Amino acid sequence: MKADWPKHIAIIMDGNGRWAQERGFPRILGHREGARNVKHITTVCTELGIEILSLYAFSAENWTRPSREINLLMKLIKIYAVRERPLFMSHNTQVKVIGDIEKLPKDVRDALQKTVEMTKHNTGLILQLALSYGGRDEIVRAARDLASKAKNGEIEPEEISEDLFSQTLDTAGRNDPDLLIRTSGELRISNYLLWQTAYSEFYFTEKYWPDFKETELLEALDAYAKRKRRFGGVEFHSTSTTK
Ligand code: FPP
Repeated sequence: MKADWPKHIAIIMDGNGRWAQERGFPRILGHREGARNVKHITTVCTELGIEILSLYAFSAENWTRPSREINLLMKLIKIYAVRERPLFMSHNTQVKVIGDIEKLPKDVRDALQKTVEMTKHNTGLILQLALSYGGRDEIVRAARDLASKAKNGEIEPEEISEDLFSQTLDTAGRNDPDLLIRTSGELRISNYLLWQTAYSEFYFTEKYWPDFKETELLEALDAYAKRKRRFGGVEFHSTSTTK
């Protein structure tokens, strides 16, 4: 891996629906193509030696979509979690899931949990899938957890620090994203990793997610490598980050 590339890349995979509609296909075909691209980009990240790839696969707000689209997305996610197990093992990929996963259908949750369990000792790329995920929801769940610990006397309120708070989030133990990419030309964060992107570099591209291939990823990495990260201080080169 190039020294000035990000260790942790987070992606908002947007534009599947428009990719399909512009071709006269039903939206779900865009999601199917998007799922194929998940496999492609994950493989590229493995080859590049990226440490963490975080993908926004289903947001807390996505539950408001038509039930047919939700069901098809759930099916795609389950198929991916099951079918790619041999690839996760041969690529040494560790799969993690963040979000309010209790809301997922039981069969999808079970399939994901089995994949997480099976890959937990792998030491290569960490593939962090955000499912039924909302950044505010994650923060509220962490706050609730800490409040009940304080109420039970397990911690003192004064002990609650940024570090402890980070360790109570779904992403506990993993570094924050260095680079956040959003495809499809939208310029929003849409409730994704709100706490964790405090110091991330943002990169927006017009490309729809199914068209965001290795070339586009390399362009994003090069753009990142040219930036100077200061973390509110003075000069700070983009390599030396954990935050
Ligand atoms: C946004 O496109 C994308 C989603 C809501 C879901 C992302 C899901 C996948 C890429 C496929 C399944 C995931 C895995 C991990 C196998 P959109 O529908 O909002 O597109 P639009 O803005 O053009 O309508």
